[in-house]
Amino acid sequence: MIKVQVPATSANMGPGFDTMGVALSLYNTMSIEETEKDIVVDVLGDQSQQLINPKHHLIVDTMDKLFQLAGKERKGLHLVCENVVPFARGLGSSSAAIVAGLFGANALLGNCYTNDDLIKIATEIEGHPDNVVPAICGGFTVACLRDDGVRHVKCNIPADIHAVVAIPDFRLSTSKARAALPQSVSMRDAVFNMSRTAMVVAAALQGDFALWGEMMEDKLHQPYRFPLIPGAGAVISGAKEAGAISCVLSGAGPTMISWVVHNNDAAVAEAMQRGFASAGIACKTMILTVDNQGAKFNI
Ligand code: HSE
Repeated sequence: MIKVQVPATSANMGPGFDTMGVALSLYNTMSIEETEKDIVVDVLGDQSQQLINPKHHLIVDTMDKLFQLAGKERKGLHLVCENVVPFARGLGSSSAAIVAGLFGANALLGNCYTNDDLIKIATEIEGHPDNVVPAICGGFTVACLRDDGVRHVKCNIPADIHAVVAIPDFRLSTSKARAALPQSVSMRDAVFNMSRTAMVVAAALQGDFALWGEMMEDKLHQPYRFPLIPGAGAVISGAKEAGAISCVLSGAGPTMISWVVHNNDAAVAEAMQRGFASAGIACKTMILTVDNQGAKFNI
């Protein structure tokens, strides 16, 4: 039996739209057994309803794609997926599914593809690299698309930097959150984001996490998405008052993520919960760390 574990991810990190991301200590796991025919998918966890149909299953489709690329026939499969990463909340559930499928299929194929190959294929499926790169590599990552593939850099984040996530009780599809964005932006806003993105990366490489958080400012996507997320403004101001280094949208939202040094985390979680509650939205909070290892198989 093959077992695969893939972390949740948080993309954008404020200014690094479609570029920066981080892997989090929250994991989907999947076990795979080859069978003589057919596909059986058992889904454990609270997302069994969306993912139960093996004919429209992102993990199965992704496994099939890798087998096709390798020119190999796939046997039947019995998958048991334990889905902990919440669906359509901005924590990389679709990337986790794609990466689980690629790692599982690659293991069945004798690991003939490298992580860089899998990053390229996963990015083609997902459309942007900012979730799939940290899901595969772990850590805080920066990635860009080029004609010849995806280039990326990874930086480990120490365990005393905590991510407090507030996951509101509603879904927001990435397609809806992307549809809210403008077709073009001003040079002023582009320079604002370019400078902050560069500063976030430089601060991480220097290990200056106060600066890292302070620079997570954005004018390219969050202002257009906040109207879709009631309470977002109150969550940010509450988190900062409670001592967060920063508080931004996780991916396309609606989850909000605050970065804190560990001794402030409980107060920040409570403040974020109050922020959503002020708009009548229930949320679940979690205190996580950065996963610096990324996806694994045969754990
Ligand atoms: N960079 C993406 C976005 C992440 O913000 O739309 C969501 O998958």
